[in-house]
Amino acid sequence: MTQTEQKERAAIYAVHALLAEGLLFPGMKIGLGTGSTAAPAIREIARLAQSGALAGIKAAATSFQTEILCEELGIPVYSLNSRQLGSSLDAAIDGADEIDPQNRLIKGGGAALLREKIVAYSAKRFVVVADETKAVASLGAAFPLPVEVVAEARVSVAARLRETGASCVLREGVRKCGPVITDSGNMILDCRWQCPVDPAEYEALINAIAGVVENGFFTRRQPLVFIGKADGSVEVRGSA
Ligand code: 5RP
Repeated sequence: MTQTEQKERAAIYAVHALLAEGLLFPGMKIGLGTGSTAAPAIREIARLAQSGALAGIKAAATSFQTEILCEELGIPVYSLNSRQLGSSLDAAIDGADEIDPQNRLIKGGGAALLREKIVAYSAKRFVVVADETKAVASLGAAFPLPVEVVAEARVSVAARLRETGASCVLREGVRKCGPVITDSGNMILDCRWQCPVDPAEYEALINAIAGVVENGFFTRRQPLVFIGKADGSVEVRGSA
C-alpha cells in the first residue's frame, strides 16, 4: 500500500472500530482533526451521519481546513465555547506527525497544534490515525517540534529555546511570502535538539516561556492509535 492508502485504511478502519465499540454514536460531540489522515476519517463520519448511523453529531473543528471540509460535507461545527458543546467532547480523532512507543506524539505539521491540543485535551477519548512512517522510536529525532509563538516574542522565545540546546527555524509560508501565520494569528518555530529531550518534561517547560502559545508535544493524554501498514494491516495500540 502507498502512504496515502495506508492513511485512508487506518482512518476508515478506526471509524468502524470505534462505531462497533459504541465510542462513536448518534448525537455525540466529536472533535475533528486536521490533515490528510484526519480527512478520510471525517469523510467517513459524514457518510455515516447521512446514513443515520451517526445522526445528529455535533463537531468541533481543529482548523479552518477542517471547518471548510465539514461545511462541504454537511457536518455541523460549533465553537467549544458554545452551549451545544459545553467545552467537552465525547471523542476526538486526529492525525499525528510522530508517535513513540508510549503513544506520545508530535503534532503541528499543519500548524494546527493549538486547536488540536485544546480539542484533544477536552475529549473523553482521543484517537489518532496514521500511516506507518509516523511510528518512531524517539520523538523529535526526525521531525522538528513545532512551537507556536506570538509574533512579538519570536526572537525572545527562540533565544530561550536555544538555551535548552534547541535550534529553531521560523516556518515559512508556501505560496505566501514571509512566515506562516497560524489560524490563531501566531507564528511557528520548528525546533530540533541534538539529543532527544523528555517529551513530557519539555511539553510543560516550553509552555512556561513567556510568549509561547503552545507546543506540539502531546503527552498528557493516552490516545488510542490506529497505524496503517504497507502490507494492508492496521496496528491498534492502546485502549479506549
Ligand atoms: C496538523 C497535524 C496533523 O495531524 C499532522 O501534521 C499529520 O498530518 P497528515 O495526516 O497530513 O500526515 O498535526 O497540525
